[in-house]
Amino acid sequence: MKKQIIYILLLLFVNSVSAIEIKELKLMPYPKSVNLLDGKFKVDENFNLEVSQNSERLKIYSNKFLMRLANRTGLFLNNPFVNESKNPNAIIDIQRIGLVKLNEDESYELNISDIKIHLKANTDIGAIRGIETLLQLLQIDENGYYFPTCKIIDSPRFPWRGLLIDVSRHFIPIEVLKRNLDGMAAIKLNVMHFHLSDDQGFRVESKTFPKLTELGSDGNFYTHEQIKEILNYANNLGIRVMPEFDVPGHSTALLTAYPELASLPFNYKIERKWGVMDPTLNPTLDKTYDFLDKLFKEMSELFVDEYFHIGGDENNGNQWNANLDIQKFMKENNIPDNSSLQGYFNNKLLKILTKYGKKLVGWDEIFHPSMPNNIVIQSWRGKEALIESAKKGYQTFLSNDYYIDLIQPTDFHYLNDPIPADANLTEEQKKFILGGEATMWAEMISAETIDSRIWPRTAAIAERFWSPQNINDVENMYKRLEYISYLLEEHDLQHIKNFERMLRRLTNNNETESLRNLISVIEPVKFYQRNNLREQTQQTPLTRVIDAATADAKAAREFNQLVENYLSEKNNLELKNKIIQQLNFWKNNHTEFLETAKKSPILFEIIPMSENLCKLSKIGLEVLELSSTKKKMNNELFNSIFEFIQKVKLPVAQTELMIVNSIENLLNIVKE
Ligand code: ACM
Repeated sequence: MKKQIIYILLLLFVNSVSAIEIKELKLMPYPKSVNLLDGKFKVDENFNLEVSQNSERLKIYSNKFLMRLANRTGLFLNNPFVNESKNPNAIIDIQRIGLVKLNEDESYELNISDIKIHLKANTDIGAIRGIETLLQLLQIDENGYYFPTCKIIDSPRFPWRGLLIDVSRHFIPIEVLKRNLDGMAAIKLNVMHFHLSDDQGFRVESKTFPKLTELGSDGNFYTHEQIKEILNYANNLGIRVMPEFDVPGHSTALLTAYPELASLPFNYKIERKWGVMDPTLNPTLDKTYDFLDKLFKEMSELFVDEYFHIGGDENNGNQWNANLDIQKFMKENNIPDNSSLQGYFNNKLLKILTKYGKKLVGWDEIFHPSMPNNIVIQSWRGKEALIESAKKGYQTFLSNDYYIDLIQPTDFHYLNDPIPADANLTEEQKKFILGGEATMWAEMISAETIDSRIWPRTAAIAERFWSPQNINDVENMYKRLEYISYLLEEHDLQHIKNFERMLRRLTNNNETESLRNLISVIEPVKFYQRNNLREQTQQTPLTRVIDAATADAKAAREFNQLVENYLSEKNNLELKNKIIQQLNFWKNNHTEFLETAKKSPILFEIIPMSENLCKLSKIGLEVLELSSTKKKMNNELFNSIFEFIQKVKLPVAQTELMIVNSIENLLNIVKE
């Protein structure tokens, strides 16, 4: 007994305090400092909250907090609105109203005792960040609900923590944006990067140039009033909204309305396909700058944020190369190449935006020696531009490897640090790295699926931007993420709920269980493969199995871990039996799935995947049985199975089976 106690004490001591606390508290982003005590603040009808009177934003947020608390607990609060009681047991104190600007103070301190909650912050924005931590802290015991007593001191690692939402490729309605803004606030993101124009649509009304939406939007755009509504909504959450108008490339929709600004004459039409397109503004014409001056003036007044994104990415130069006047202009002005011509263009835009009090932001293509270092570089093609920018004194932030549209697993993004380990930067240079942005490009999403592409992965990315760098345990992150994902439903986010609806549609309202089992081990193909395998347009349905499937197929991840554990411990019968049980389950799933698929033609394309899962399961079972006898497989059979497994690695209906490698690893046990 004594020995055991010593052992436990030793364990407690050896593990860092924060590691133990993380196991207990499902917080995300994990705070800078958590001191967990062993008391409880009971949450009952008497819970009542007082907040500093001067902040309207905080009052709105705190009343929402009380509603969320009541909704979760079912409690009829005696004081369901803030500042109703003379004897508050929860107090939110702030020093001043925060500005929704870069580098605003978002720190907070949360003290919870048995009888009192005290949330202190310099600004109301810090208080909002603290309220979210408090809501994540809510616990349950046999008596009901409580907050654990603790002291939390927290502030962000980076000031720029963003999510780009592309509303050009597929239009995203306002209510979807609002619920995603709520989700962003819940995990302490503070910038919505609003990608408003691209080849496939110009999405904001211009009173100066009404043709932009008349001809370039299919009627899907936000009016000024609607933009103000979004900005106001975001402001109340302490979230900045940075607009992006992508020029000189990615501008087909704009040129559909104003073809006279193009580098080549053409009957431009809104682009319906995906990829890098030729249409490009003509940087040698005065009228191009007149147009952009007026447009940016109007948009600078509408969008209040100090930062204004001009895109600048993926200008392939084809139109510039083909236009003899542009070539002549370059010669006459000693402009040696297209990159320098774009530098010329960007310098003009910088003057315009400076005139309107804005700071210019652009994708890393705009990083050119001719540009002064008061611009901001968003690094997406790699880390090089980020590191170079920081070295040369440009502010910069990272999006490379935060491309959530590419369907990579959460841990991949989670371990991608805004300050790359090999960056070799001085402390002074590191300060130029402002943070990062996840990017929700919208070629392959609809209003129905966008939430499941953003969440829950973006919560883990948000932790990377907010929490100390050494909070990086992947297994622990996944454990917390599952709970946080569930909490995010509180904002009407539909990443979990829409899955069920999609299954019903896919099965034509027949049984969904066998399809659910299949989808739990498959993922959409990664990177840009989806469009390469089968070209899509703006009108392609986004209701297929690939759209219901998500990154991080959970059953596959768990199975792969099980197999990995078993392979390092082959005498462990419990592990082996678990594998056998799972494989039998998948093997048998196929029969039922076939019955369902027969009744729903939209599923025909995925039948071979179910068949593959069944066959792989049989292979796994045979291997395990053979290995029990300590026998090996004869070479011929081994090779034919090996070949089959290689075939199964190929995508079916643009999805991948995520357990193939584990079966291959099992097969190797019986290799002669
Ligand atoms: C980009 O992904 N073209 C910035």
